[in-house]
Amino acid sequence: MIRFESVTKTYPDGTVAVDRLDLVAPSGEITVLVGPSGCGKTTSLRMINRMIEPTSGRILLDDRDTASVPSHELRRGIGYVIQHAGLFPHRTIIDNVATVPLLLGEDKKAARARAYELLERVGLPAHFAKRYPAQLSGGQQQRVGVARALAADPPVMLMDEPFSAVDPVVRDQLQNEFLRLQSELGKTIVFVTHDIDEAIKLGDKVAVLRVGGHLAQLASPAELLSKPADAFVAGFVGRDRGYRALGFAGAGSMPLHSEKTARVGWELGRARDHAEDGWVLVTDDDAQPQGWLRVDGDGDASAEVTPGGLNLGGTLAVESGTLREILDAALSSPSGRGVVVDEDGRLLGTVTASQVLAKIEEQRLAAGPRPDGDALVKDGAQ
Ligand SMILES: Nc1ncnc2c1ncn2[C@@H]1O[C@H](COP(=O)(O)OP(=O)(O)OP(=O)(O)O)[C@@H](O)[C@H]1O
Ligand SMILES: [Mg+2]
Repeated sequence: MIRFESVTKTYPDGTVAVDRLDLVAPSGEITVLVGPSGCGKTTSLRMINRMIEPTSGRILLDDRDTASVPSHELRRGIGYVIQHAGLFPHRTIIDNVATVPLLLGEDKKAARARAYELLERVGLPAHFAKRYPAQLSGGQQQRVGVARALAADPPVMLMDEPFSAVDPVVRDQLQNEFLRLQSELGKTIVFVTHDIDEAIKLGDKVAVLRVGGHLAQLASPAELLSKPADAFVAGFVGRDRGYRALGFAGAGSMPLHSEKTARVGWELGRARDHAEDGWVLVTDDDAQPQGWLRVDGDGDASAEVTPGGLNLGGTLAVESGTLREILDAALSSPSGRGVVVDEDGRLLGTVTASQVLAKIEEQRLAAGPRPDGDALVKDGAQ
């Protein structure tokens, strides 16, 4: 556990970067520091491993005051990942990853074997090992940065905007892999980002900071979206927070419409007999949805259903998923019927947006009025 106790950092020019920060980052969890540029995130992070010394206050790591631990000893147990991966340009990827274990006196063979294993864990094929950082894409370099920080197997990881220099698709992949890794490793992680969506996706707890290094709110992602502490946090978490909060609500049991389906290779006339409102869902022989087919009455009834004729616009929702996923499936479906599948991707049935909204309303009423007496709750309540 990392505990900030009234920590202040004033730089020599008088800038107060962090102001009396109290914060606990629990062991085995991801605590995200998020806030606008210049609010003191990096300063807070670097005070944990004493790359920056606090002006006043204390930081405790597992109940030891970090000021009393020699900094080299402290850093041995703390991995550090920064925005542009910070790789050594003149060392190969494998040597970059093995650097810290080698410094710690591990023998070369063991360090390399472990480095190969880590590259695989972060999703990089072994043939990258002999390349130099400049021969990798930004996203690949970030993976190497994560592998390198993990190499000494530190119980604590500090990550400063590690995924922000890559495009949104790669960032999404890196985030997913990071969450998967963390579910196996259970490190104590403090993660800095200025992206509220990233904070909400990755954080067990999210600390929102405002400029001047003030903690505005520390809460779980769901709580941050549903109960922002003040106007600053509300503004920062953004406009579509009501919709995003659905990402934390399980869909529970939802009545599903049993959908008649068609197959690729069928004659259009036969597919048309299975259509509702001009749309029929095409699945493979294993009941896995392939796409929607528009059948509007005319056209050659003896023509075949082809994969190229399908509309792939709708997303699929897994039955055990969230209300957000199920609502998205309904809203994105060209037929207006959202497709729900089981864990193996087989069709269970469909659901409309209004059915999902009814479910949202049902859950809201079941939860009762908000403890802070939100006026909006009053009128619909029964
Ligand atoms: N060495 C320094 N000397 C003086 N002021 C500094 C120094 N380092 C940072 N600052 C100031 O401290 C404040 C906090 O900086 P910090 O780097 O912690 O912010 P940040 O939240 O990480 O911002 P960003 O999102 O842009 O990375 C800023 O106003 C910055 O200008
Ligand atoms: Mg920063």
